[in-house]
Parts: sequence; structure tokens; C-alpha cells
Amino acid sequence: MSATAAPVAPGAASAASQSSLLAMRFCGLEFASPLVLLSGCVGFGEEYTRVEGFSNRDAGAIVLKGTTGAPRLGNAPHRVCETPAGMLNAIGLQNPGVDHVVRQILPGLDFTETRFIANVCGSTIEEYVEVTRRFDDSPIDAIEINISCPNIKEGGVQFGNVPAMSARVVEACRRVTAKPLITKLSPNQTDIRENARRCIDAGTDALSVINTVTGMAIDVATGRPVIGNGQGGLSGPAIKPIALLKVKEVRQVAGPRGIPIIGQGGIVSAHDALEFIIAGASAVGIGTALFYDPLVCRAINSGIAHHLRARGLNSVAELVGTLQPGALADGAVCGSC
Ligand SMILES: Cc1cc2nc3c(=O)[nH]c(=O)nc-3n(C[C@H](O)[C@H](O)[C@H](O)COP(=O)(O)O)c2cc1C
Repeated sequence: MSATAAPVAPGAASAASQSSLLAMRFCGLEFASPLVLLSGCVGFGEEYTRVEGFSNRDAGAIVLKGTTGAPRLGNAPHRVCETPAGMLNAIGLQNPGVDHVVRQILPGLDFTETRFIANVCGSTIEEYVEVTRRFDDSPIDAIEINISCPNIKEGGVQFGNVPAMSARVVEACRRVTAKPLITKLSPNQTDIRENARRCIDAGTDALSVINTVTGMAIDVATGRPVIGNGQGGLSGPAIKPIALLKVKEVRQVAGPRGIPIIGQGGIVSAHDALEFIIAGASAVGIGTALFYDPLVCRAINSGIAHHLRARGLNSVAELVGTLQPGALADGAVCGSC
């Protein structure tokens, strides 16, 4: 999990500053870094600013907690539990509702620090549209549509696992906003490429890949699921190999259409982030890693910059999607049989 980079070749090191190496444009927005702090892991953008040494400026963008039309109390406890190399959560989209977020929370955010992205969720297409419309009429920089939340009974992943439904949500939200629209895809579906294709056709400007992977834990003393909801979404290093493959698959569809990807799932180090960038992510998401090291972004930023210098590259963009084929023809055989 350490930040690794190739040895510095003589003369390859560039004098470029870290900030100029990391600065990039994403959907027309200026990002100071390719790092995006993920929805549900940073509250509404103010939570970590109380931690000494943490700065929102270390991230290119921050995605706010998933927001619905009306306030939601979320699921009954337990809502989180630690698992080997990861965690399960079933928060149930607890949030104060879009009206409160737009009127009470957004005015308190410092938009000079970073870009802020809303995360929109709903139980019906009408709710997605209404929440998107409210954020469109606000200072928010971009809107992420969460059609992949596995932790609510209606909506969320019910839209995300059926490509035709995903496309209907994206199409409807696209009609009510000109802000950059990012669609967050579910890994819990048969062919993420087909879903990505439909969402691009429906007008999304970017894709987030991936949301959590469904899973469960059982308390052997009681014989009951540990998570109150019965099941939850698995995040953290345990899902990194899954996420990486999904990013590579979505890149095959999104790359030729010029649609950028925010790659995410288990990233805890610069090495992890670089893998996602090589697989095809233009920006990379940091979520669960923040729970055990709120200052992790600094190390990841400097590790990425170090790697770019070592390879004589001038920007993250030069590394995006540079994955080389494996020794066997790509995808020729199933990996485990
Ligand atoms: C406690 C928790 C709450 C989350 N809430 C949301 C949410 O509201 N909306 C959303 O789109 N994703 C949500 N996610 C998913 C993350 O944004 C991210 O996609 C996922 O955790 C994978 O990244 P990671 O392994 O780096 O955490 C949540 C994840 C966690 C751990």
C-alpha cells in the first residue's frame, strides 16, 4: 500500500512544481488535484476541516453526501461494520433534504478552496429531477447522479442495475441542468459497459466508477446479520481489484467518446491512484481511506507528482488510459478457471 514510483532516471526529473503537475480540467472545471473526496465519506464538505492539518485544498473536488428531496433518517443500526480489508455500510442515505442543503449548507462552503459536487439520489425519477433542479439553481459546481446506492429499499441501485432505467434517470436530469453531470455506476450488474454506453447516450458528461459492492456479515452468536439493514455496501481496499477492472471496462466505452471517469474503490495510496489512472481514470476518488487517515490526500498527491516527475511526464492526463495489453490477448480467457 506504500506510495511507489519508478526510480528517477538521470535527466528525467522535471522541475515542474507539484501544483502545476497535478492541476487539471475535469468537465470544464479547474481541479487543483486529480483527487476527489467521495460522497458519504466527508459529510457536506465541512466535516474534516476540523481535523488539524486537513485542507479541502488538497482535493480537486469534494462530493457531498447523497441528497434526496425530503429529509431521511437513514437505516436502523448497526450501519457500519469493519471487515477484512474494508468496511460494510448501510447508512440508508441519511440527509437533511435538498432544501436544507441548498439554503443552509451551501452558503457556508468556501468555493475558493475546491470544487463542490452534489450527490443526487431518489426513489422515483421525479425525485431525481426535482433534486437536480434545485442544485442547478445553486452555486454547486457539478452534479453526480447516484443510481447505485445499494442501501435503500426503493430507487438507488434499482435504477443503476438496469441500463434502460439508468438512461431514463440521466436523460431526465440532463433536461433540467446545464451543469456538469456525472453518473455513478454500480458494480453490482452484469455488464457495466452497456450501462456506461446508455448513460453516455443519455447525456452524462462523466462517469464515477464504482459505488460499493453488496455484501454482508453475520454475528454467529445471534445468527443475525451484523448490519441492521441485513446487507450493506462493501468499500475499502477489499474492492480495489474489482473497481480497477470496472474502470478499465468503462474506459473502453467512454474513452473514444471523450467521457472522463472518476475511478474509485479502495484507493489508499499513490500507487493505488496511479493504477486507476493507468486503467483509464482522469480523476480518482478517496473515500474509506479517510476514515483511518484523514491526511492521506497529502501523501497521495505527492506520490503521484513524484511518479510523474520520475517518468518525465508533465501532467496526469499523459498517464490516463495508458494500460498496456497483458501477455494473453485481452479478455481471451476467464481469469479463474
Ligand atoms: C459510509 C459511506 C457512505 C456512503 N454514502 C454514499 C452516498 O451517499 N452516495 C454515494 O454515491 N456513495 C456513497 N458511498 C460510496 C462512496 O462514495 C464510494 O463510492 C465507495 O465507498 C468506494 O470508494 P472507497 O472504497 O474509496 O470508499 C458511501 C460510502 C461509505 C463508506
